[in-house]
Amino acid sequence: MRKKSIEQPISNIESKEDKRELEMKKLLKEVFGEERWMKSFLSDDSHGFNHGNQVRLACLELIKKLTLSERKTFLQEGKEFCKDDFSDCVLAATEIAAIFHDCGRFNEDGKIITAEQKNHHILSAERAEVFCKNINFSNAIPHVRKAILSHDFQSKELTPDLSPPEKIMGKIVQSSDQIGWFHPDSAKRTLDFSKEIGRPFFKPELSLEERLEWKPFSHKNEDALTVMLRQLFGPTGTDRFGVGFAREKIGKYKLGLEKSILKIAEDFNVVSEVKALIEAFRKDSLERNKED
Ligand SMILES: [Fe+2]
Ligand SMILES: [Fe+2]
Repeated sequence: MRKKSIEQPISNIESKEDKRELEMKKLLKEVFGEERWMKSFLSDDSHGFNHGNQVRLACLELIKKLTLSERKTFLQEGKEFCKDDFSDCVLAATEIAAIFHDCGRFNEDGKIITAEQKNHHILSAERAEVFCKNINFSNAIPHVRKAILSHDFQSKELTPDLSPPEKIMGKIVQSSDQIGWFHPDSAKRTLDFSKEIGRPFFKPELSLEERLEWKPFSHKNEDALTVMLRQLFGPTGTDRFGVGFAREKIGKYKLGLEKSILKIAEDFNVVSEVKALIEAFRKDSLERNKED
């Protein structure tokens, strides 16, 4: 009987798209309503609830596009922590991981502190654990935690302190979040977040080497443009995008992202500088790919 279920498509995904957003907001307020970080989380657009919810919807879209073998693996994972309704279980766990993945960017005072961002995945996982316990979903905790802890993995070189997800649930959350880096709208999001943490768009004194060596969460001498260039020319391998459909999607976004970066450059009156840097990053990424 169960064998048969695992062969079937996952049903009811559409019904979860809108319904779960309201459900999650209600539960978040019930569990964390008194806490200061929750106030910031619910109102911030860069990494708050809206971002978590976008990643949740992207997860549901990816789940619909899983290949047969990916889907079987996903459902099998649900069986590891739910005897019955394992399809609903693994979906709910994925949605929780998506909603919570970046909530640790807000500290207990509801503030975004640059130096604390490096460990946001750990705080996010802790809060998701508290949430699961409160809603009587403790059996999902190890899966939700693992998915959150590896969501920011890009490559061994760029994110040496993180590990890629082992489980497909983690790969779905990570792919859905990382696709966001390539989305044409993400340049604007990076600019907004940079404003929040006091990072300028363009620092003319930064050398090309400094820009090429930049790593996420290093927060040394950086500007928003370097982050955007790393978005555009970041790794696209299976360790970062472990779901086939995710890799297809990024290819379609890249041109739009480049245009968005140039549009921002126009607003800051540095188009020729940014065009030259885009070409230098392109050359570097071609050389890197040749070496791989
Ligand atoms: Fe993150
Ligand atoms: Fe995120």
